[in-house]
Amino acid sequence: MNRDEALAIVREFVQNENLINHMLAVEAAMRAYARKYGEDEESWGRVGLLHDFDWEIHPTLEQHPMDGAPILRERGVPEEDIRTILSHAAEQSGVPRVTLRDRALYAVDELTGLVTAVALVRPSKDIRDVTVKSIKKKWKDRTFAAGVIREDVEQGCAELGVDLWSEHVPLVLEAMQGIAAELGLDGRLAG
Ligand SMILES: [Fe+2]
Ligand SMILES: [Fe+2]
Repeated sequence: MNRDEALAIVREFVQNENLINHMLAVEAAMRAYARKYGEDEESWGRVGLLHDFDWEIHPTLEQHPMDGAPILRERGVPEEDIRTILSHAAEQSGVPRVTLRDRALYAVDELTGLVTAVALVRPSKDIRDVTVKSIKKKWKDRTFAAGVIREDVEQGCAELGVDLWSEHVPLVLEAMQGIAAELGLDGRLAG
């Protein structure tokens, strides 16, 4: 399964551009972590790209991501990728996070949402203007992007064995800055 095939699955099941952008952001962060750990960038990116592909058709925690698994299987997504995808909702799926890749996916998932929100409140609406410091400030404001459960990200970092502020946030931010245009966070929304 190459990247184009994975992206085609996403485009088939997702209309909402924000959701697609979320998966592109998680993909970029996963690729960055794969490089950091000397792991396979393609498969790490792929689980990021696909992890929420069924959210529009299965928009409840009773369905997502469990009911998406047979669809991925049918499309030829490797079983090990499906397992990692199920593990991002370990509580619902009962599939625990075991591998480094499972842990990385869980750690980056929510954080990308906060980083996107921080970029969108900047006048420039350009993620390349976002700093770790500006993320930290918004992190502390619990009313900002309140849906991003800070404890989940902290838990993810603990499981992965990375420091939140000196390692995790800089890596995810840099990865997302690297695809600013794909995310629509390159200033085009300013004005
Ligand atoms: Fe999800
Ligand atoms: Fe997600």
